[in-house]
Amino acid sequence: MEELLFINACVRGDRSRSLKLARRFLEGWQKAHGDGVITEVDLCKDRLVPQYPEVLAERDALWSAGKLDDPMFAPARQFAAADKIVMAAPFWELSFPAILKIYLERITVTNITFGYDADGKSVGLCKAKKLLLVTTRGGDFSKPETAWMEMGARQLEALCAMYGIPQFQCLAAEGLDDVTRDKEAILAEATGRADALAEVF
Ligand SMILES: Cc1cc2nc3c(=O)[nH]c(=O)nc-3n(C[C@H](O)[C@H](O)[C@H](O)COP(=O)(O)O)c2cc1C
Repeated sequence: MEELLFINACVRGDRSRSLKLARRFLEGWQKAHGDGVITEVDLCKDRLVPQYPEVLAERDALWSAGKLDDPMFAPARQFAAADKIVMAAPFWELSFPAILKIYLERITVTNITFGYDADGKSVGLCKAKKLLLVTTRGGDFSKPETAWMEMGARQLEALCAMYGIPQFQCLAAEGLDDVTRDKEAILAEATGRADALAEVF
């Protein structure tokens, strides 16, 4: 039985185009993986506190005491144990909303999601073989002249390398706020890609 961890960072909730695309993907994935289990983490509900000084001090103290089983590290343990991971987030400020960054800070814990070998080399400790980012963007960042400005998928891809997750994929619908483009057509095309990917993810 495969466990898919779904990290929902779609701040617009049910009105979010990114969430609609992600839910479509997850429906397809569930159909294709009958006994698979999807666990959703809704970052708008969980509202993890940013790592302000006192939060970081608590984290450092727990970590130094070897208390990696403390509830504070529960998100990191859950992330490290998942078989597959899907994140849904809108494209904000060329990356993703702060709630996802806070989550990433919370799960990036030495000796849970990554560590160091005897030679001091960074090694990933996550079980997942695949991580998918589902996103929608106001502009089109698939073109050579704009792709370099995209910082969300690229950050997650780099983090996957650090976490030991070998495959990063991004399902993006681009140019949705461009008045010259056909939004419905863009979303229909992305939905088709979501359906196809759900079969094989
Ligand atoms: C706070 C905020 C920041 C945004 N920043 C960008 C941006 O940097 N580049 C861009 O192309 N679109 C940007 N957008 C537009 C969104 O990426 C786009 O509307 C997206 O489809 C919203 O996804 P959602 O429906 O899942 O919320 C931004 C929208 C908001 C609300």
